[in-house]
Amino acid sequence: MRQPVPLPQAYRLLNHGPTVLVSAAHGGQRNLMAAAWAMPLDFDPPKVAVVVDRSTFTRGLIEASGSFALQVPCAAQADLVTTVGNTSGRPLAEAGTDKFVVHGIGCFDAKLIDAPLVDGCVAWLECRVIAWPDLQRAHDLFLAEVVAAQADDRVFSAGRWHFDRADAALRTLHHTSGGAYLLPGEAVLGRVIDPK
Ligand SMILES: Cc1cc2nc3c(=O)[nH]c(=O)nc-3n(C[C@H](O)[C@H](O)[C@H](O)COP(=O)(O)O)c2cc1C
Repeated sequence: MRQPVPLPQAYRLLNHGPTVLVSAAHGGQRNLMAAAWAMPLDFDPPKVAVVVDRSTFTRGLIEASGSFALQVPCAAQADLVTTVGNTSGRPLAEAGTDKFVVHGIGCFDAKLIDAPLVDGCVAWLECRVIAWPDLQRAHDLFLAEVVAAQADDRVFSAGRWHFDRADAALRTLHHTSGGAYLLPGEAVLGRVIDPK
C-alpha cells in the first residue's frame, strides 16, 4: 500500500544507494530511464542530485518541464529497469508512442508534478529542478528539491526500510555493471566506538 512519506524523511528513501527510474513529461510526451547515479543531498527541505546524460531523451523533458520523478524499483522490476536503461524513448516519440505503451508499463499521476509515477516501485519522489545551467552543462548533474514522497508500506514504514520482513521481490536494486544488480541483505547496527 502506498503511503505518504514526511518530507524530512524523504532522504532515507535514497540513503542506501538504490538504482532509480527517472520519469519526466512535457508537451504531451513522457519518458522513463534508469539512473544509478542518484543521491540525497539535504534533509529539510529534502534535495536530490542525479546525473542525466545529455544524450538522453529524458533530459529534454526535464529541462522543458523543470521537474522529474525518481522512483525506487524493486527486484521484480529488474528487466524493466534494464530495458528502459538500454533503449531510448526518442525514436518512440517520433513514432507517436512511448516506453510506457511499448512495454506495457503501468503508471499513475503524481501529486504535484507532471511526470508519471511507475506502478510496482517501492518509493516515489516528486522533484522540482533547482536550475543550475552550468552544472547541468558541464557535468550532466541535476539538483532538485523533493516536493512530495511516497513509499510502499510493505517495505518502508516509520521512516525505515524493512526488507527483512518482506518478499525478496520487493528488495531494491543496486547496479554493479552490465545489467547485474545486488539486493540489500542483512542489516547490521554500527555503534560509536568508545575510546579507552
Ligand atoms: C542500471 C542502469 C543505470 C544507469 N544509470 C544512469 C545514470 O545514472 N545516468 C544516466 O544519464 N544514464 C544512466 N543509464 C543510462 C540511461 O538509462 C539510458 O541512456 C537510457 O536509454 C536513456 O533513455 P532515454 O533516451 O529514453 O531518456 C543507466 C542505465 C542502466 C541500465
